Amino acid sequence: MDVTASVAAVETYLTEHADRFVDELIDLLSIPSVSAQPAHAGDVQRAAEWVCDQFSSAGLAGEIIPTDGYPIVYAEWTGAEGAPTALVYGHYDVQPPDPLDQWVTPPFEPTVRDGRLYARGATDDKGQMFTHVKAVEAWLKTAGRLPVNVKFVIEGEEEVGSNNLDRFLEDNRERCRCDVAVISDTSQYGPDTPAITYGLRGIMACEVTLKGPKQDLHSGVFGGSVANPANALARLIAALHDDEGRVRIPGFYDDVVPLTDEERRNFANLPFDEASYRESLGVNEVFGEHGFTTLERRWARPTCDVNGMISGYTGEGPKTIVPAQATAKITCRLVPDQDPKALTGSLRSFLKERLLPGLTIDFVDQHGAPAVVCDLHSPYMQAARQAIQAGFGTPPVMIREGGSIPVAGSFKEILGVDTLLLGWGQNSDNLHSPNESFRLVDFHHGLAASAHLWAALAEQQA
Ligand code: BES
Ligand code: ZN
Repeated sequence: MDVTASVAAVETYLTEHADRFVDELIDLLSIPSVSAQPAHAGDVQRAAEWVCDQFSSAGLAGEIIPTDGYPIVYAEWTGAEGAPTALVYGHYDVQPPDPLDQWVTPPFEPTVRDGRLYARGATDDKGQMFTHVKAVEAWLKTAGRLPVNVKFVIEGEEEVGSNNLDRFLEDNRERCRCDVAVISDTSQYGPDTPAITYGLRGIMACEVTLKGPKQDLHSGVFGGSVANPANALARLIAALHDDEGRVRIPGFYDDVVPLTDEERRNFANLPFDEASYRESLGVNEVFGEHGFTTLERRWARPTCDVNGMISGYTGEGPKTIVPAQATAKITCRLVPDQDPKALTGSLRSFLKERLLPGLTIDFVDQHGAPAVVCDLHSPYMQAARQAIQAGFGTPPVMIREGGSIPVAGSFKEILGVDTLLLGWGQNSDNLHSPNESFRLVDFHHGLAASAHLWAALAEQQA
C-alpha cells in the first residue's frame, strides 16, 4: 500500500469527521461509569457496551469478555501480515466525581467551554482512549485496511486497581500477542510540549480501620478513659513520615533504584518554573523528601499519602463524642524495584505494632502494581516520536510520571512487551478532581498522532 497517500486521506477523514467524534465522545462521557461505586454497576456495564458498539461501527468486530469484575472490551484487526502488532489499552471506567458541588457544570453532562470538553473521564481516560478507536476507523474507512495489526483491550477497572486484568492476560496470551503496547492515559509535559512517558510509579493501596468502643461515647463522661480511635489514627499517620519527608516504614527504601546522574540531569534540563507550579496548585511552598527536586519527588521517589479519613461527627456545629472507629485510605507510590506485596506487609506490621491498648485494627489490601521504566531506544519509541511530531507539530520530550497504570507492568511481565505511553492530556486537566476537562486541540492532535503511529510502526521490523 502507498502509506504516504493513505495517511493524507486518513488526515482528511479525521478533519471532516472531527465534530462527529466530539459528539460521540460526549455520548460516552454521559455514562457515569464510576467503577469504585457499586451503585453505578449498570452504568459501567453500559459503557462497555457503548465502546463495543463503537468498534463494530469502526469496522472491527468488538467483543465483550466477562471477568470476575467489570468486562473487558476486546477488538482486533489483524490483516497486515508480516507487519508489527500493536496492542492498545485504555479504560472506560472513571473516578468518583466528588466533591459534586465544586463542578461548574455537572460531571456527567459534558459541556464545551473555551475549547475544552468538561466531564468526568474527559481526559482520563475516555477522551484519550477514543482517539485510537477513531484513528483506526479513519484508516479502515479510507484505505480499507491498516498498515499494522492492531488489537484493543479496553477495561473497566483501572481506577480501582485492575484487579482482574492479569488473569485476563494470562488466559488470553495468544489473543493478546503483540510487539508493543500503546496507552494514551498520561499527560503531555505542558500545553505546547507533547511527551513520551518512559516510566510510571507503581502503587499499593489499603484501607485501615481502628475500632474502639462498641459505639460513639460522650467525650465528657468517658473521654480520657479509653483510646480514641480518631486520635490514635492521627498518631499512626503522623508516624509514617519523619521531619525530612522520608517514609518511616521499615525497609521502605531498601529496593529503591537510585536516580542516575544522567537521569537527574535530564530532569533538570526540562523547563520547570517552580513559582508557576506553586501557583497552579494553590500552595505557597512545595514540600517533599529532602534532597530531591520537585520532578524527582514526583517521578522517581516513593511516597506515602493518606487519600481520605473517615471518623466521628463531621456534620455542622459541635458534637462531643469519642468516635467508635476511624478509617484511613492510604496509598504508597512506588518506584523500581519496590515490591507492592512485600511493602503492603511492612505497612501492616508498622501500624499493628503501634496500636494503642483497647483498639483493634482491620487492614484491607485493596490493590498493588509495580513501577515501570521502558526502553528509551527501542525502534517503537522512534516510531512514536515521529507520530507525535506529525500529529502535534512538535517533537516530544521524554519524561517519567508519578501516576500509575497497573497494566503497564503486566504487559512487560505477562506478554513480554514494552509499552508506549503516549499521553495526549495535561496534568492541568483536573483529572480525578472537580471540573475535569480535555482540550479539544489535544483531542484532535491525539487523533492525528494515533493515525500516524500506525504508519510509523509499520516501518519497524516486527
Ligand atoms: N490516567 C491515570 C494515570 C496517570 C495520570 C499517569 C497522569 C500519569 C499522568 C490513571 O487513570 C490513574 O489514575 N491511575 C490510578 C491507578 C490506581 C487507581 C491503581 C492512579 O494513578 O491513581
Ligand atoms: Zn485515573
